[in-house]
Amino acid sequence: MRGTGITRACASEGPGWLVALKSDARIPAIQRQLRGFDTTMAEVSYRYGEMYFGGVEGNWDYAAHMAMTLERALRLGLERSPSRKPNAENLFLKGPLPQVVDAIQKKDAALFKQRIETMRAACTACHAAENHAFIRIGVPTAKRNPVE
Ligand code: HEC
Repeated sequence: MRGTGITRACASEGPGWLVALKSDARIPAIQRQLRGFDTTMAEVSYRYGEMYFGGVEGNWDYAAHMAMTLERALRLGLERSPSRKPNAENLFLKGPLPQVVDAIQKKDAALFKQRIETMRAACTACHAAENHAFIRIGVPTAKRNPVE
């Protein structure tokens, strides 16, 4: 099927590069392209911010969606970087995250804000534990999606 100029240009740089590799080079290439914990964290941070504004603005379903997808992104990242798992579990997944989810389910704005404080301290604590102490997480200041 013939596409527009734009779709043709994209297709020429599409999956062809992967198929063009020798078959035993494809899995390592996919692994490289999936990246590591840095891209995981860029997604976690984005979802943390959106979850925050969902809660603050009373869009609890949006906050719940962002909390769920944040957890999924983090768990998939841990599959790629298993050495990070003990700190992620102990400092974040076992306490601060379910506590925020609980506040979202209760639709309790005061409790949510209080638990966000605990969560951001946990993000920062994990960074310190994983040799990235310079990444200190604050309360989000800018909403990224134009969700009403
Ligand atoms: C496993 C413990 C751990 C937890 C929990 C964690 N982080 Fe991270 N984070 C890291 C590590 C390790 C890096 C550095 C990753 C790298 O560059 O390989 C990082 C990097 C980052 C970065 C920089 C990303 C970039 O663009 O390179 C941001 C932003 C970030 N984290 C935000 C957060 C937020 C927000 C939370 C909590 C909602 C959080 N992190 C929870 C370990 C954690």
